[in-house]
Amino acid sequence: MPVHVITHPIVQDALATLRRTATDAAEFRRHAGRLTTALAVEATRTLPTRDATVDTPLGQAPAQLVDGEIVVVPVLRAGLSMLDAILDLLPSARVGYIGLQRDEQTAVASTYYSKLPEQIAGARVLLVDPMLATGGSAVAALDLLSDAGVRDTQVLCIVATVEGIATVEAAHPQAAIYTASVDPTLNGQKFIVPGLGDFGDRLYGTD
Ligand code: PRP
Ligand code: URA
Repeated sequence: MPVHVITHPIVQDALATLRRTATDAAEFRRHAGRLTTALAVEATRTLPTRDATVDTPLGQAPAQLVDGEIVVVPVLRAGLSMLDAILDLLPSARVGYIGLQRDEQTAVASTYYSKLPEQIAGARVLLVDPMLATGGSAVAALDLLSDAGVRDTQVLCIVATVEGIATVEAAHPQAAIYTASVDPTLNGQKFIVPGLGDFGDRLYGTD
């Protein structure tokens, strides 16, 4: 399974801000958006294009326009932090939502909401969730997309783990992953170490 770790200095600088305990919610949101923009640019490098011609003030120029159906699917809640940055790049993309919640004791994810666009099967889907920890949430979301007929999925996350990637690969080997970091371990509560803590809580000021 392709795993793309984006080592661009701007991505790594934004990741450092997200990891830092002292970063407040406003800065956290801003840097999550900046980092997502760079991840999305990489993940969309292979989008199909169609040839066109555009009128410039001085003549005509050959052009390439983004083509094909794109659906962005944030995993609630934390995936919402990545949505606007992607829609800025792909304003005509459609959006689906998947709501998943990890049990605090077992860390097993359960689905509480799913709303996917009609006729999603032929689309390229960008599944966005900032934390890929055990991989259980990503597999649950990919299962839902697969059941809807989706065959072309890219997973965008801010921090992944070795274990989470292996879990996703075993269940959905065709899904490509784009991330800013592959962290080494999980702690006893299945939080990523060193990670950045609870993404949703830092984003929304809950705990
Ligand atoms: C977090 C995160 C992922 C999931 C990753 O969500 O946003 O969805 O955990 O963990 P996993 O890989 O072990 O499944 P959480 O369940 O805390 O919900 P939230 O986004 O509402 O805070
Ligand atoms: N979810 C988070 O928000 N952080 C982790 O480290 C693991 C799951």
